Amino acid sequence: MENTIRSLQQEIIDFEIHSPADLETFRLRYTVRKGLIAALFGQLKTVDPAEKPRIGQLLNQLKQTADSKLAEAEAALSSTKPQESKGIDLTLPGRRYFTGSEHPVQKVLGEMKQIFSDMGFGIATGPELELDRYNFDLLNFPPDHPARDMQDTFFINKGAAAEDVLLRTHTSPVQIRVMLDQKPPIRVICPGKVYRNEAISSRSYCVFHQLEGLYIDKKVSFADLKATIYSFAKQMFGTDVKLRFRPSFFPFTEPSAEVDVTCYLCGGKGCRVCKKSGWLEIMGCGMVHPNVLRNCGIDPEEWSGYAFGMGVDRTVLLRYKIDDIRLLFENDLRMLKQFTA
Ligand code: PHE
Repeated sequence: MENTIRSLQQEIIDFEIHSPADLETFRLRYTVRKGLIAALFGQLKTVDPAEKPRIGQLLNQLKQTADSKLAEAEAALSSTKPQESKGIDLTLPGRRYFTGSEHPVQKVLGEMKQIFSDMGFGIATGPELELDRYNFDLLNFPPDHPARDMQDTFFINKGAAAEDVLLRTHTSPVQIRVMLDQKPPIRVICPGKVYRNEAISSRSYCVFHQLEGLYIDKKVSFADLKATIYSFAKQMFGTDVKLRFRPSFFPFTEPSAEVDVTCYLCGGKGCRVCKKSGWLEIMGCGMVHPNVLRNCGIDPEEWSGYAFGMGVDRTVLLRYKIDDIRLLFENDLRMLKQFTA
C-alpha cells in the first residue's frame, strides 16, 4: 500500500497539464469520487490497525498534492485564455457595414416639404386606408357623381359594413381630418402614398405619391394661391420657370385650375417629354368649395381658403431621367443603389 501511494504521488507530480483536456483527464483519474485516490481510501480498512495512522497520513498528503495541483492547473489555464485570442488574424479586412440610401421619391418629396415648411406650412399625415366619407363625401363628391369614376380605387368592404373603407385616392382626406380637428387659420401640407385602379404602364401605377396643401384664413384669395405656387415652382424647377393656370374641375374647389410649368427639360421650346407643347402639368388647385368648409364646421362667410395637390412621382422620373414609373416601386437594389448620396 505504501509503495502504491508513493508511486502514485510521483505520477501525480510528473503529470503534465497543458490543456483543458489534460486537466479533465487528471481530474477523472485522481480526484473524483471514483478515482484512484478515493479507491485507496477505500482500502484503508484492510490495513493493519497499527499502521493505519501513518498510511492514513500518507494518503491525506497524496490527496492534498492532487487537489492543489488540480487547482493550480485550473488557475493557470484560465489565466492563459486570453492568449487564445492570438488566433484572431488582424490582417483580415474589417467587416463592412452597408448603409442604405434615401429613395428617390423621398428625396424629391423631402425637397418639396422643405420649400413649403420654409413658407410656414405644417405637415399633416393620415391613414392610407380611409373612410369613403373622408375620401369623397365630405369633399363634396355627390354619391353618383362621375368624378368618383376618375378616382376608382380598391374598396375593402364595399357595402358590407356601416361605412365603406377604401385605399385613399388622394391625400385630400387628410385636409378633411385637419379641418374637422383644428380651427382656422390652417396652413398645412399633406404628403403621402395614394392608390388608384389604373391601367398599369410605364407612366401610371396603382400606387403613387402626392403632396397636397391647404390654407384657410380670413380673406384668402386666388392671388395668394398663385403667389404660393409661383414661389414653390421657382424654388423647385428653377427661377426662369413660367406658370400657366388652365380652368379645370374638382368637386372640392371652386374655381379650380390645373397648373403647368414651362418644360424644364427643353426650357419651353418643345421636346419629346412635353410632347412638343413646351409645358408640363404639375398640379391641380383651387379655392376650397364652401360646401367642404361647411362639411367641416367652418363658416364660409368668415373664412376662405385655397388647396392644391400635386403628384410627386412624375417629377422624380423627369428629374432622374427614369423611364418607367414601376421602377420606383420594385425595390430593385440595382436601381436604388444608384441614388446613394
Ligand atoms: N386631390 C386632387 C387629385 O388628386 C388634387 C387637388 C388637390 C386638386 C387640391 C385641387 C385641390 O387629383
